[in-house]
Amino acid sequence: MLLAIENVLTSEELAGARELFEKARFVDGRVTAGELAAKVKNNLQLPANAAETQVLTDIVHDALHCNPLFVSAALPKVICPPLFNRYVPGMDFGIHVDNAIRVGATTFRTDVSGTLFLSEPEEYEGGELVIEDTYGVQTIKLPAGSLVLYPSSSLHRVEPITGGHRDVGVFWVQSMIRDVAQRSLLFQLDAGIQSLRARAPESPEIVPLVATYHNLLRMWADI
Ligand code: NI
Repeated sequence: MLLAIENVLTSEELAGARELFEKARFVDGRVTAGELAAKVKNNLQLPANAAETQVLTDIVHDALHCNPLFVSAALPKVICPPLFNRYVPGMDFGIHVDNAIRVGATTFRTDVSGTLFLSEPEEYEGGELVIEDTYGVQTIKLPAGSLVLYPSSSLHRVEPITGGHRDVGVFWVQSMIRDVAQRSLLFQLDAGIQSLRARAPESPEIVPLVATYHNLLRMWADI
């Protein structure tokens, strides 16, 4: 399941994040790549211990935890601190699959990958995120403050940048629901319940639907 979520950051959060990017000192992005990904990763990255990284991480984590669509789609158990990347002309990230396990302060399994866009699409040329989904190849370039989520099992790449610069935060989620098909069913069921609640809040059908949602979650969740 590939999902775009708009306006994950407010305009104030986005402005704050962009200001931090302008102040920051970047290093070679290969420092955090796995062996295979390091061969194709060609970007800049904020060091994990930079002061800006901590502030940016808090902005992104707060925004994710408060976003009902993100929570419903990812059902997060662990959200890792994002990597903050800048791509300038000549940079790209060749086709790869994200490492299944990320080892660090918290070691976790990557179920869902996310890219939060911090540059507007018109601020750079090239730099599309290309994801090979079960439904074919998807090309993604979203407004600043928006996010795309996709299964971490997908092959993906970032096209070369030919002008401007592309700033993003990328992160991984270990979901309480490991299986992508089960996660997708729960997301669809939750969307249906939310829509029914908004349209007809007194509907007696809401109770059995919510019970089914929770009982499926109880059956499948790995916490
Ligand atoms: Ni990747």
